[in-house]
Amino acid sequence: MSDHGASGQLARSLMFVPGHREKMVAKASVLQTLDLAMFDIEDGVPPAEKDTARSLLEAKLPMLPSPRPRRFVRVNAIASDRFAKDVAAVVVPGVEGLALPKVESPDEVRAAERDVARREGETGASGLTFIVAIESARGLLRAPEIAAASPRVMGLMFGAEDFANDLGLPTDRRGAARELAQARAQVVFAAASAHVQSYDGVWPEIADLDGLRRDSIQARELGFTGKTLIHPGQIDTINAVFTPSEADVDLARRVVAAFEEAVRRGEGAIAFGGQLIDLPIVERARRVVALYEATR
Ligand code: COA
Ligand code: MG
Repeated sequence: MSDHGASGQLARSLMFVPGHREKMVAKASVLQTLDLAMFDIEDGVPPAEKDTARSLLEAKLPMLPSPRPRRFVRVNAIASDRFAKDVAAVVVPGVEGLALPKVESPDEVRAAERDVARREGETGASGLTFIVAIESARGLLRAPEIAAASPRVMGLMFGAEDFANDLGLPTDRRGAARELAQARAQVVFAAASAHVQSYDGVWPEIADLDGLRRDSIQARELGFTGKTLIHPGQIDTINAVFTPSEADVDLARRVVAAFEEAVRRGEGAIAFGGQLIDLPIVERARRVVALYEATR
């Protein structure tokens, strides 16, 4: 059984934090309800502020209080001339991983892995993981290989806005990436095929929490294990949608217990409340319980 989406690496809510905004960096680093902060030096930072963002994060990240939220940095694209300096600045103890934008091939991931491993050796950081962004048709077509390119890959993240741009979709798209449902599903499949997590794109309308909730439910139903966000007001809605309810957990525990009892009797499949329970259903139930316990 794969454990993507379950314990160990809890990442339901992942917030972008503009790396040049000192106040936002400070605020995000003490948000106890947020699972993971992605301090940004890529597209959320204007080009003229990128050097500022890099040095601000270099100075602040090693000193932030731990351990929640988990700390990641979204660096510039691996092929860009900023990548090497970004890695040099932010691969430090206390940073858990990098978000790698606009990835289109497994070779890029392996190149990033070599650079990060070398820098870890120099700074004493270790075990950094990768969140890899799929933001183009090219990237999507190779997403299964990209997800499997390195054991450091923790999950795939869908970059809805860049993806829509790559497809030439109109700019007045509002909210939900419904027209991108097929691409979103493919990101989920690619991630699951490599047993890694998957995170949906952002809901851009900060004031519309109903819309956020609907979009998050759709993402969960597609199979995403979490969702990215841009404003602290969005954290609770996303956490709620990606956390099993008491009723879900209760049912899952009873399914597991009934199945284990049947196994003791030498049976492989049983009827439970009128539904067939066999191994895949039990494994899903165990995953629900593990995820629930990871959120306690
Ligand atoms: N990270 C950390 N703190 C944030 C934040 C974020 N992404 N978004 C808002 N905040 C903070 C604000 O600084 C403010 O803090 P305060 O109460 O201590 O003053 C508080 O949350 C409330 O913010 P609010 O006034 O409602 O919003 P804002 O006008 O300050 O910011 C945005 C709105 C959209 C500019 C801001 O949310 C943002 O920059 N988000 C990230 C966008 C981004 O990264 N995009 C690229 C990736 S898709
Ligand atoms: Mg992007």
